[in-house]
Amino acid sequence: MGLAEQCLQAYAQARRLTLPARYRQAKRVLVAGMGGSAIGGDLLQDMAHFQGATRAVFTWRDYGLPAWVDAETLVIASSYSGDTEETLSAFDAALKRGAPVVALTSGGELKRRAQAKGLPTIDITYKGEPRTSLGYSFLAPLALLADLGFLHCTEAEVEQAVCLLEGLASRYGEVVPEETNEAKALARKLWGKVPIVYSAGLLTGVARRWKTDFNENAKTWAFAEALPELDHNAVNAYARPVVARESAFVLLLRSSFLSPRLLLRYEATAAILKREGVAHEAVDAPGDGPLAHILGMVYLGSWASYYLALLCGVDPSPVPAIAYLKERLAQGA
Ligand code: F6R
Repeated sequence: MGLAEQCLQAYAQARRLTLPARYRQAKRVLVAGMGGSAIGGDLLQDMAHFQGATRAVFTWRDYGLPAWVDAETLVIASSYSGDTEETLSAFDAALKRGAPVVALTSGGELKRRAQAKGLPTIDITYKGEPRTSLGYSFLAPLALLADLGFLHCTEAEVEQAVCLLEGLASRYGEVVPEETNEAKALARKLWGKVPIVYSAGLLTGVARRWKTDFNENAKTWAFAEALPELDHNAVNAYARPVVARESAFVLLLRSSFLSPRLLLRYEATAAILKREGVAHEAVDAPGDGPLAHILGMVYLGSWASYYLALLCGVDPSPVPAIAYLKERLAQGA
């Protein structure tokens, strides 16, 4: 199943979920998850900020929960496997606080615990690596939050974004040669470099997603930073050490929905990168509409990281270091 189809399925599934009446009183939302299951929370947060939402949306990547989570905080516990210990710890803490909880999972302990408590659960039916279930980790909570009035998202917007993804599949796919394939061309430029992904506002979570896709698919170092903050520190550091300056490739992810001041910062920052001799390139979000910009950019980053994995001669799917850590932690040693 491609990302487009998965997004539609996840959105429709979440729309069918009936939430208990008290969930509708929630004053804020916290998405608890790790890695590929947390990124949807960041994308939602960016959408909420972009739309000027008056009720806050947070992402939480840690054990337990922040002290302010209470019975009026909707907690979405997101774990593809359902066995991620940090997310289970957040889930348990949410129940102790009397928070309304929704589970988003394909199974494991999270599903068992949610079912035992009779909690609303969105079943991830998509099969694959956790990070590839982004259609679920983003579109399912998006449908819930739109239903609860936290943010706006119409079916037409979802369809428009999905339509874009379908079109992009035939632009970035394997049969398309490098000369006309933006994802392959990007991967080629990044080969042997350290991708450093810059972004702002609506695309902040997308940059993190690019970073994590480079880490997990291509098994390469990568970092992400956001404007305007990076203009107050990172821009000062490009010269040293020389090995870092020569290894870095800065990707400036841009969206036409960013404010003119931010877009001016992209230009000014690129001018400094040029002056300092740091390889860089601006990447513009494809499609129309904020949701399309987020999803289209996520998609391009995933394909680019996939092609980079192939260039590096690594298998993009397994993540042995993550598996080792989970096993080691499970043994308690
Ligand atoms: C692996 C991946 C990881 C996992 C993370 C949490 O594909 O993306 O970042 O998402 O280790 O595991 P889950 O998603 O099962 O809660």
